[in-house]
Amino acid sequence: MHAIDPAAFQSDLLVWYDEQARTLPWRIPPGSAATPDPYRIWLSEIMLQQTVVAAVKSYFEQFTSRWPTVEALAAAPEEDILTAWAGLGYYARARNLIACARTVAARGGFPDTEAELLTLPGIGPYTAAAIAAIAFDRPAAVVDGNIERVMARLHAVETPLPAARPDLKAHAAGLTPAHRPGDHAQALMDLGATICRPKAAACLVCPVARHCAASGSNPERLPRKTPKAPKPQRHGIAYWLERDGRVLLVRRPPKGLLGGMRAFPATDFVATPPTIGTNAPVTADWQPAGTAQHGFTHFHLTVDICRATGDADMDGEWWPIDTLQKAGLPTLFEKI
Ligand code: ADE
Repeated sequence: MHAIDPAAFQSDLLVWYDEQARTLPWRIPPGSAATPDPYRIWLSEIMLQQTVVAAVKSYFEQFTSRWPTVEALAAAPEEDILTAWAGLGYYARARNLIACARTVAARGGFPDTEAELLTLPGIGPYTAAAIAAIAFDRPAAVVDGNIERVMARLHAVETPLPAARPDLKAHAAGLTPAHRPGDHAQALMDLGATICRPKAAACLVCPVARHCAASGSNPERLPRKTPKAPKPQRHGIAYWLERDGRVLLVRRPPKGLLGGMRAFPATDFVATPPTIGTNAPVTADWQPAGTAQHGFTHFHLTVDICRATGDADMDGEWWPIDTLQKAGLPTLFEKI
C-alpha cells in the first residue's frame, strides 16, 4: 500500500498553485482578498459539467454580464436563457439551471453546505462538493474526471473505471485539507489539466511527483478503463420549409432530448429510418437536401434533411434565413 503524507502533499500542491494557478473568469486568484461569489462558482460548475474549460469561457462571460446575480437569472424568461445556452449542449442542464436559480432566489441565496446544495436542481455530488469547497471553503472531497486520473496515478489504483470510483473518492477525501480546501480542489483540477494530462503526463515538472506511485513509470496507462459498449445508431428526418426568405422553426417539447430548444420540425430519432413525410409540417414535395451526423451521450444520430417551399400546417416561427445564427439552435440543428 502506497502511503502519502497528506500534510506534505497539500503543502507541495498549494505552493505550486500559488505560483501557477490558471487564470479563469470565475476564479478568485490564490492570495486575493476577494471572496468568491457563490453565483459565479455555481454557474461555472454547471457549465463545466461535461464541457471543457475553453468552450465554457465565452458563455460564462456572456451570462454573467447579462445576468450578474442569481436574482437576475431567476427573473429572466426561460426562452432567453435557453437561447443563450444554445451550443453548450446537454440542455437538461439549462432547464435545471433555471429551476435552481428560481429556488435559490426565493430562499434568499445559496445554502453553504454540501448536503443542502445537493438538494438543489441540477446539483449532484460532484457539483455540491465543488461549490461547497470553492465558494464556501468547506473541506469537501471534489472528484471530477481530472481528479480521478490524478488519484489513480498517485496511488497506482489498478482497478478500472468506473468500478474504481469509490476508491478514488476515498483517496481524494484522505488528501483534502481543512485549510484552503477550495484552492486544494482547484489546484488538483489544474494539475490534472496541465501536468497530469491523460496522454502526456509531465512528471518532470510535477509538484507532487515525490508523492506519486506512478510518477515516471508510464503513468499514462492509468486510470484503467473498462471498455464502453458502442453507441447505438439512430435516424431521423428534419424538414427545411422555406417561404419568402424565411424558414419554419418550432420549439421542441419541454421534456426530453433538446427539450425547450428551437429546432427545425423533425421526426423522432429512432432505430429504423423513418419514411419521408413522417411528422412533416405540411404535405409537400419533399426533396432530399443532405444529411447531418451528430453524437449524443447515448447514441449516434444521422438526420436526413428534406426541403420544400410553401406554407405550413402547423404553428411555428418563420425565421429570416439570413439571421438564423441568432435563433439559438442546438448544435445538431446548427449543422442541419
Ligand atoms: N472543471 C470543473 N470545475 C472547474 C474549475 N472550477 N476550474 C477549472 N476546471 C474545472
